[in-house]
Parts: sequence; structure tokens; C-alpha cells
Amino acid sequence: MRCHVRTIGTAGARPSSFGNLWSDLRQGQGVLPANISGRWNQYHGLVTGPSPAAVSGSSRTVSPFAPADVLAPRIGAAIEAAFGAEYAGVDPLLRPSQFADLQANVALSLAKKVGAKPRDVAEKIVAALDVSDLASSVEISGPGFINLTLSPGWLSGAATSMAGDERLGVPRQERQIVPIDYSAPNVAKEMHAGHLRTTVVGDSLARTLEHLGHQVIRQNHIGDWGTPFGMLIEHLLDVGETSDEATLLEVDPNSFYQHAREKFDSDPAFADRARGRVVKLQAGDAPTLAVWNRLVGLSKVYFNRIYSALDVTLTDGDLAGESMYNDQLQAVCDELEDRGIAVISDGALCVFLPGYTGREGKPVPLIVRKSDGGYGYGTTDLATVKYRVQQLHANRILYVIGSPQSLHLNMVWDTARAAGWLPDDVEVVHVQIGNVLGSDRKMLRTRSGNPLRLMGLVDEANTVARKVIDEARPDLDEAIRAEIAPQIGVGAIKYADLSVAHDTEYVLDLERMVSLTGNTGPYLQYAAARIHSIFRNAGMAPDAATAPIVVAEAAERDLVLALLQFGSTVALVGDALEPHRLAGYLFELAQAFSSFYEKCPVLKADDAAVRDSRLALSALTLRVLTQGLELLGIRSPERM
Ligand code: ARG
Repeated sequence: MRCHVRTIGTAGARPSSFGNLWSDLRQGQGVLPANISGRWNQYHGLVTGPSPAAVSGSSRTVSPFAPADVLAPRIGAAIEAAFGAEYAGVDPLLRPSQFADLQANVALSLAKKVGAKPRDVAEKIVAALDVSDLASSVEISGPGFINLTLSPGWLSGAATSMAGDERLGVPRQERQIVPIDYSAPNVAKEMHAGHLRTTVVGDSLARTLEHLGHQVIRQNHIGDWGTPFGMLIEHLLDVGETSDEATLLEVDPNSFYQHAREKFDSDPAFADRARGRVVKLQAGDAPTLAVWNRLVGLSKVYFNRIYSALDVTLTDGDLAGESMYNDQLQAVCDELEDRGIAVISDGALCVFLPGYTGREGKPVPLIVRKSDGGYGYGTTDLATVKYRVQQLHANRILYVIGSPQSLHLNMVWDTARAAGWLPDDVEVVHVQIGNVLGSDRKMLRTRSGNPLRLMGLVDEANTVARKVIDEARPDLDEAIRAEIAPQIGVGAIKYADLSVAHDTEYVLDLERMVSLTGNTGPYLQYAAARIHSIFRNAGMAPDAATAPIVVAEAAERDLVLALLQFGSTVALVGDALEPHRLAGYLFELAQAFSSFYEKCPVLKADDAAVRDSRLALSALTLRVLTQGLELLGIRSPERM
């Protein structure tokens, strides 16, 4: 398990140019480029972890406008022309360069194989290289780096084509069926910050993969079954379904749960009834099931309130809770036992897998049936694998679940593989969710020490957002401020979850998250709103800014280079399953826009063609920001 503490919402600009960002996107090295991360960490007191695993499936990330994606095949062709067909498909090792836009490092790695000095290899490649339409200069430097500078003409053309592309350069990938298991709160329990984070990360992955052309099947694996339901059902029967106590399930489920628990602990007759009720529930007794159904229904009201407050795409149609698998659990166990994969140990049916050992090498089992005959969490999860493979025909299955459940999932998958339920061509991924910490660096709690209530967190964020917007924009209509405050508050919460790697721990700091400066959701929303205001001042709609984009100034060049990375960044998020790469990209884009706007007058440009080009560039930036935020699940208010 990799867990590293990072803080979020860090104020101030990062000492990084755009080149660094896309380099580490391509190298799959985490948003902080290796060469500056030390410095950056010093400035901000951050602790970063090792780089995430290198990104596979890079062929799926090709975007028609990303310079590296366009240059790579050209260099590949030159390598082939220079050294023969056996060198087809060699990675040109394109990286950002200090002295140019990109450098190809391939000559250094090829030298040994072709038996020549790297510089001579580079010369041969360059002699065969045709990039006259793309690059204004190709130079060999140092031991054999090929430095490439893109021509203003190509950049202008690429930006103009991107503006004419409704997908903004985001590739449409070969369609896969991708069930995503995320959110998964428990009935009659408060959702906690961990549930919030899987909900937000899972939802962003669902949006992104759908946008890339995949068929996403949302699987909200709610905890809606198990022994506590006897006590919960009895309590609901005692108080009556229309009582205030029952309404607690919709607003404060933990209290309902606690009251049931207190009765269970103090009233033996109630405890007896509760135990009897579990037996009835498991036997499928119709009246019991009816009460259970209403209990789950009341909880759904609570879940849906949170989902709607958070702008999450989950609906009742996506519920695929634990109970859904009840009728398959016996078959799961029988099949495992018949085939000798599971054995009885101390009365329980267990799977012992090679490689899973605890202290002193003692084997750790996956228990599929307890000694009392009950099924466990693992049994249900085995059924989820079977269902998703056999019924949903999944190509790739994502489990967006807390990091501590990694062992559990791996045991489930290995068991499923042993049983032949999980074929090699179906990819399963645990998108590990790290803990959210309070300012004391412990699991987030309220001041009274209870787990934080999610709705309370949302309300608090919206209150802080309202304060921020009241201070920043007292001139805005009261009605507008009231409308955008929740968009900012929720955007801030979601961005905090999405801007750090999903498997790291981070400290929740509301004031900082809601700030309009720094790497925050509101900063990005504000960048987009500012572009809207340019168009309001121009008296035109952004859509109407369709003039050709002409790259002349350095700030325009930087902005265009940033814009052209959008498609490959989104594709990378889909491959690596790391929304923080999109967040980091958008942050850098917003900064690139900010310097452009500072250095290049738009409405006051002397020349009409320059003004129109800059308006088109602003409109394109707005579309990318808005689309990018939407993939993160964050709204872009037009004014703020
Ligand atoms: N309900 C579980 C919890 O609150 C999460 C379930 C995750 N999904 C799964 N297939 N195990 O921890």
C-alpha cells in the first residue's frame, strides 16, 4: 500500500513550465516533474511518494493535435528508413526539452544496437526525417539528442483545427465494457469522507471513460445485507415507518443505527427478536423482506440527497448492492468446494491461496462460508466478479475502493481466477482510495470526535464558498451569488479529492480548498468565468469566436502548446485511471491562460485579425476548461 501525505489547495504558482507537465504525462511520472519536485516540495512542505507505475496502453492515448503524438510516427518512419524494417515500432523517446519544444532521445538507446556512435545515429535519423511542415528547427545537441522546435505555422494550424473539432482532440477509443464499482455506502450508516472520495473519483472516471467512448456500467455496491439488519428491521417495526425516528434514516442514519444498537445491547427481549428477524430475513420471509425494502428505501433517500448535492451521476438504476447476489452465494461456495478450491477448516469453508500468509508464515484464508453457515463480504465479492464477467461481459472492471481493502480484493480475484471466473483478457483494477485526514493528521472527525457527517461537510463548504464570493464579488446580484456558492463549495470539495493522486492521504482544509487562488477548484472555475466575462465585454458569444488562430507571441505559443495536450491528457486519465493528471493539466492551462491574458491584450489588440485570433484562443481555452471540469464532475459558473 502506498500512502503519502500531501496537502491540498496549496497557494501560489508552481515553478514549472508547461513542458514539464506534459513530459511527466508521457513518462507516466506523477504530476510533479522529477527534476523540480524537490524544489517544489521545499517550497510547500509537501511529501511526495514514488512515481505511479508507468502507463501502459500508450497507443490508446494518441490525439490528433498533441505534438508528441504527431511527431512520434514521423521519427519512427525516419528510424525505419535509416536502419531498416526491423526497427519499426521503436519508441522515439520524445521528451520535453530545455532548449526546444521536444527532444527525441532515441539515438542514445539505439546506438549499441546499430553499432554506431549516438551522434551518428542521430544524424542518420535527422537526414531521413521529414518534419518540414511541423518543425521550424531540428538540431542535434549533446551526445545525440534530437531537438525539435515546432513552427508557429503548425501550432497555429493545429490550434485552429482543434477549435473546429467538437471533441477538442480527445480520441474516441475502441469501445470497452467497463463496470465501475464506486461509492458503495452502507444502509442505515452515515457516508464518511472515504465514501465521499470513492464517489468523487469513481464518478470522474465514469465520466472520462464514457467520454472516451467506453460503455461504463456504474455498480453502486451498497451494503444492504447482513446480521445488523435484524436489529434495524425490529427497530423500524417498533417505532413505525412514518415516525420521526424512521425519518432519521433519511437525514441522520447513524442516530437510527445507534438507537437500534443501544436497544439491542440493553434489552434482551429485543435482541432475541432481532436474532429471530435475521433468520426470517435470510429465509426470504415476505413481510420481513417488505420492511427491509422500506429500510433500504429510506436510506436511498439519504444517498440520493448527497449525490444530488454533490452533482454525482449515480442513480437508483446503478444500485447493485450486496443483496443482489444472495441467490448466487450458495452456488459460489458449492462450485469452489466441488472443485477442491475451497476446503473446510475449523468448520468454515475457506480458500487458501499461495502467497497469502500472515505472521510466522501462517496461511491466511479467504473465508467464503463461516462456521455458522453465513456468507461473508468475500463471497459476495466473488459473485460480483462472476456477474460482471459473465452477465455484463466486462472487458475491464474497476473497483474504486479504500486502499486497506487491497488484500481482500486480491484474494477474491485470485480465487476467481482459480475458479475460471476471471479470464486473463479481463482486466481488474483496484483504484485505491487513500484516507482523508483532519488537521491533526488523523482520520477526519468532527470536533466531538464522531465521524464527520458528509452533508455537514457539504453545507460547511457551501457556507465558506458563499463568504468567499460575497467578499470577492459584492457587486454580483444576491441571486447569482446564492446560485453559484454551492457550485463553488462542491467544486472545491471535489477538486480536493481529484487533484491529489487517489491513493495518497491528504489533509482536508476547507478554507484553502475554497480559496480562489492556488491549485483549487474555485481557481479553475474563476479562470473559466473570467473568459466568459471577456466575451460579455466583447458583446459576443464565445461560440462566435471562430477566426483562425495565429501564434505569434511567446505567451500565445505557451497557451497553444498547453491546449494541444488536452486530448492526450484525457486519454491518459482513462488508461492510468488517475484523474489528478487532468486536474494538474487544467491548473497549468489556467495559469498559461493567465499569463497570456496578462501579456497579450485581447479586446484592445491593435489589429483586428490579432484580436479575432486571441478571442478564438480564449474561446478554445474556455471550452477545454469547461469540458475538463465536467470530466472531473465540476461545474463552471459563467460569473463569479
Ligand atoms: N460497503 C463497503 C464499505 O463501506 C464498500 C464496498 C466496496 N465494493 C465492493 N465490491 N467490495 O466499506
